[in-house]
Amino acid sequence: MGNGILQKKRAFIGVYGCQMNISDAERMEGQLATLGYERTEDMARADLILLNTCCVRETAEDKVYGKIGEIKHIKRANPALIFGITGCMAQKEGEALIRRAPHIDFVLGTNKVHELKATVRQLESARRGPVVDVLLGDAPLPENVPIERTGRLSAWVPIMYGCNNFCTYCIVPYVRGREHSRRPEDVVREVEEAAAQGFKEITLLGQNVNSYGRDHKLASFAELLLMVDAVKGVERVRYMTSHPKDLSDAVIDAVRQGRHICPHFHLPVQHGSDRILRAMNRVYRKDAYRSLVERIRAAVPDASLTTDLIVGFPGETEEDFGELLDFLREIRYDAAYTFLYSKRSGTPAATMEAQVEDSVKKERLHRLMEVQNEISLEKNAALKGTVQEVLAEGPSRTDEDVWTGRTGTNKIVLWRKKGQETEGDIVRVRITQPQTWVLKGELQ
Ligand code: SAH
Ligand code: SF4
Ligand code: F3S
Repeated sequence: MGNGILQKKRAFIGVYGCQMNISDAERMEGQLATLGYERTEDMARADLILLNTCCVRETAEDKVYGKIGEIKHIKRANPALIFGITGCMAQKEGEALIRRAPHIDFVLGTNKVHELKATVRQLESARRGPVVDVLLGDAPLPENVPIERTGRLSAWVPIMYGCNNFCTYCIVPYVRGREHSRRPEDVVREVEEAAAQGFKEITLLGQNVNSYGRDHKLASFAELLLMVDAVKGVERVRYMTSHPKDLSDAVIDAVRQGRHICPHFHLPVQHGSDRILRAMNRVYRKDAYRSLVERIRAAVPDASLTTDLIVGFPGETEEDFGELLDFLREIRYDAAYTFLYSKRSGTPAATMEAQVEDSVKKERLHRLMEVQNEISLEKNAALKGTVQEVLAEGPSRTDEDVWTGRTGTNKIVLWRKKGQETEGDIVRVRITQPQTWVLKGELQ
C-alpha cells in the first residue's frame, strides 16, 4: 500500500441488461469518479462493487444471483468493501435482496441513479445498516449527473426514460416507471459534448423512441433526430428501440434525408401470429407491420431491418409458430434477436393459461434460428462485391492484424489490417466473404 496520500479507491462495476443500463452505469461511474474511485476489473481488489442489474428474463436474474453469491466470499475477506445493487432487479426486489443476501450494503432503484454519490459517501463515513431507496417516483433523472463513458467511438445518449406500453410479457414498465422525455436542448447539449470529446457515433436510447416528446411537446422524435444529425463532429446517428405501433413517416423521412442517420431499422415485431400479438398487447397487427416495412423499403432501399422475437408465449400453438416462421420468410430480416419467453411475475402473461413447456420452447427456438440464419446468410451474400462504408473500431478481439467495424446498416465487417487505417475513420471495405453474422472483406 502507498503512503496514504490521495490513495485511489477502486470500483468494480458489473453491468447487465440493455443499453439503457450501460448508460445508467456510465452516470454512476461518473459520480464514483468524483469520489476518487477508478475502475477495476478485479472484484477481489475492489473497495466498492456495484452490480447494475436486469430482470427482463429469468436468466438475467440468475446471473446476478450467482454474482451476489461470489461476492459473499470477497466481502468476508474484506469487510470494508461496499457492495451495492442498482438497476431493474434492485427496483423489483428492493429490501428482499438484503434479506436474501445480508452482505449487500445498499439497494438503489432505477430512478435513483443520481443518488449514488450521496449513498456511497454516507456508507464511507459511517457504516450504519443497509441503505435501501427504490422509490420509483415520477421525476425524470436530473441533468447535471457526471458521465464516465465506457466506449471510445460510440456514445449512448438516453432521450427518454420509462415505458407506457405494458406488453403483457414485459416487466420493464413496472421497474422503469412511466415515460419521461428529456428536453431536446439537454439531449443536443449532451451530443455536442460527446462529439467534442471525439465520439463519432451517437445512439439515442429509449424503450420506445417513437413516442419521444409526446409528454413535453417540445420536439418530436423525427425533429430530434435531425437536430442530432446536425451536430458538428457526429458521423453516425443510431437509435433504439423503435416500437412498430408508432414509427411515423416523418421518422422514415428523417432517416432518408439525414446526413448521418444510419439506414438501419430495428423494429421488434415479437411474433408473426395476430392472435399472439393481441395477447401480447403489441397493438399493431401483421398487415400494419407489413405496410410499414414496405414504406421503409420504398423510402430507404438500402436500409437493413432487424427484429426481436419471443417464442413460447403462453398459448402459442404449433400453428401460431408456423405463422411466425412464414412471417420471417416473408419479411426477410437481416438479423433477429430471439428469446425464449420467460415468465415474469406481476405481468399479465405470467398468469395466462397454456404456458408452453420448456422443451417445446427450446425446440421452436432452434427451428426459428435455423430459418433466420439461412435468411441472414442470403441477405449478406447479396453484398458480395459491394464496397461498404465502415466505422473502423480497431483490432478484433482474436487477431491484432484483423480489424473490425460496422456498416451503417449495423453489420460487423472484418478486414486484414493494411496499416493506413485509424480508429474512428470511416473506411471503405470491399466485401469478399459474406457470412451469417459477419462480412469479411478487403480495405480499399
Ligand atoms: N422496449 C423494447 C424492448 C425492450 S426489452 C421494445 O419494445 O422493443 C428487449 C426485448 O426483450 C424485447 O423486445 C423482447 O423481445 C424481449 N423480452 C421482453 N420481455 C421478455 C420476456 N418476459 N421473455 C422473453 N423475452 C422478453
Ligand atoms: Fe417492454 Fe413493450 Fe415497453 Fe418494450 S414497449 S419495454 S417490450 S412493455
Ligand atoms: Fe433489463 Fe431493465 Fe433494460 S429489465 S432490458 S436492464 S430496462
